[in-house]
Amino acid sequence: EETKLGVKGLVDAGVAKIPRIFHHPRDEFENDTELDKTEFSIPVIDLEDVNKDPTKHNGIVEKVREASEQWGFFQVVNHGIPVSVLEEMKNGIHRFYDQDAEVRKELYTRDHRRSYVYYSNFDLFRAPAANWRDTLLCYMAPNPPNPDDLPEACRDILLEYSKHAMKVGDLLFELLSEALGLKPNHLEDAGCTEGVVAIGNYYPACPEPELTLGTSRHNDNDFLTVLLQDHISALQVLHKNKWIDVPPVPGALVVNIGDLLQLISNDRFVSVEHRVLANHIGPRVSIATFFSTGVRPTSKIFGPIKELLSEDNPPKYRETTVAEYVAHFYAKGLDGTSALLHFK
Ligand code: SIN
Ligand code: FE2
Repeated sequence: EETKLGVKGLVDAGVAKIPRIFHHPRDEFENDTELDKTEFSIPVIDLEDVNKDPTKHNGIVEKVREASEQWGFFQVVNHGIPVSVLEEMKNGIHRFYDQDAEVRKELYTRDHRRSYVYYSNFDLFRAPAANWRDTLLCYMAPNPPNPDDLPEACRDILLEYSKHAMKVGDLLFELLSEALGLKPNHLEDAGCTEGVVAIGNYYPACPEPELTLGTSRHNDNDFLTVLLQDHISALQVLHKNKWIDVPPVPGALVVNIGDLLQLISNDRFVSVEHRVLANHIGPRVSIATFFSTGVRPTSKIFGPIKELLSEDNPPKYRETTVAEYVAHFYAKGLDGTSALLHFK
């Protein structure tokens, strides 16, 4: 029986030991060797000159290509979203979770027919262990939400931030298209930007962070994710079989390739596993903008992009619909294997 107060409810109640359901198997922490932090770091790409001269533009496309092929992750700065909007977006998520327990209880739901959902551990009943995280999930496109249907505590900023994030998304998909050697509008025309989901993650401070995770290792089940993280370092990416920190960079957005973009790019771009550590300090908040085809995925068929294929580069995946793909992703659960294998 859920308390409908999420992980925050446990922390507010003052738990000193985390409940057993949050204990992750020890082998999840096996790769946690001390890293030489100078050896690898996630590329940070400056978008300032993206619309200036072609040489600068192409230089940026080249950086996006390299990062998408080798890391599946990068950060962008000078993306055009004012710092005040970024700050207010994080504040909005804090305001939502800072509402009285009684108010939050009323809003708590796993019912995705609602205009937004607020809950803890979306896969609570399937996952091997629970995560130290609560989630607020709002559907922003293709059908723009009626503002009255969004959480009052962060309604205005969610609309404002999402408008900006979608513009950044459009730009990124142009750069990614070019990086694949396609026309700038290719990925947008294919439908990659149609559906937008905004997720406000909330990671309360954890009394026993070494026993659990904020988010288990996973791949994203979309085309692309744009993430606004706060100043608390917790996100890690698996690179060459090591967990590498994605350090908070003031004003930056973290961008990562999702499974569906790996599939349609025929493995040119990689969807990389990542996870979020639990922390003694907190709460940490992050806002993820997921680009896919929407809540009710259409019957549109996706497969490796024809223009990328040749005799030397035959399709590595069969065609599928986003609905079929996402259904498999959730049925499989967060077990550390890629849902893509099923479509080989
Ligand atoms: C996620 O990848 O699901 C969350 C990322 C984060 O909170 O940093
Ligand atoms: Fe993710």
